[in-house]
Amino acid sequence: MKIKNNIILAMDLTDPSEALRVTGQVIDYIDTVKIGYPLVLSAGMGCIQEFKEELQCKVIADFKVADIPETNEKICNITFEHGADAIIVHGFTGPDSIKACMDAANKKGGEIFLLVDMSHPGSGKFIGRVSEEMARLGVQLGVENYVAPATKPESLMGIRRIVGEGAFIISPGVGFQGGEATETLKFANAIIVGRTIYLSKNPRKTIEELIKILGDVHQTG
Ligand code: XMP
Repeated sequence: MKIKNNIILAMDLTDPSEALRVTGQVIDYIDTVKIGYPLVLSAGMGCIQEFKEELQCKVIADFKVADIPETNEKICNITFEHGADAIIVHGFTGPDSIKACMDAANKKGGEIFLLVDMSHPGSGKFIGRVSEEMARLGVQLGVENYVAPATKPESLMGIRRIVGEGAFIISPGVGFQGGEATETLKFANAIIVGRTIYLSKNPRKTIEELIKILGDVHQTG
């Protein structure tokens, strides 16, 4: 997946018209929006198609799918049928559950992102302990895309080492959660940014500044 300016907007505003309006303010700088439960549970699944049609963007459905294979398959099928380009799937459920999502994605022409570690402090208690094992499982299964946290550069680096340079990693936790954009992009292909942009008084200016920082680093680094 190619992502413009290496930035994915996490749009978690729950008012559908506000979500569209704020995304519209920055859409010429990005081409991929991550939508999850906050928006879909208030606006309905139709918001995926609405974003795609009105803003001409790709949509990653952050549904953190984590069920038995048969249910995962249904969740993925429905999500792709509603127009999602990709879906985020938990790795901890094991190979059969992940495989069900991969098969659904292949059948529907979508992609999966395998979530192998999380960005919040409590993630160290369980998921963070097995993230490298999950990444290795992803490689064995042929998963190409991963989600790994910007708040834990060590974890992100370890996951990159395991999945290899050819894999595509997207990384949440930049900004509000403390992750640093330029550091994260040393190991990830794209950063996921939510509140820093959508709660900004001037989302357009905020994303312009972010792009400038990333561009400057790219030129000098
Ligand atoms: P903020 O506002 O913190 O938004 O910039 C971050 C977005 O990313 C989601 N999130 C995660 N998703 N693995 C994921 O798949 C994670 O570790 C993770 N951490 C945050 C969060 O729900 C929000 O949409």
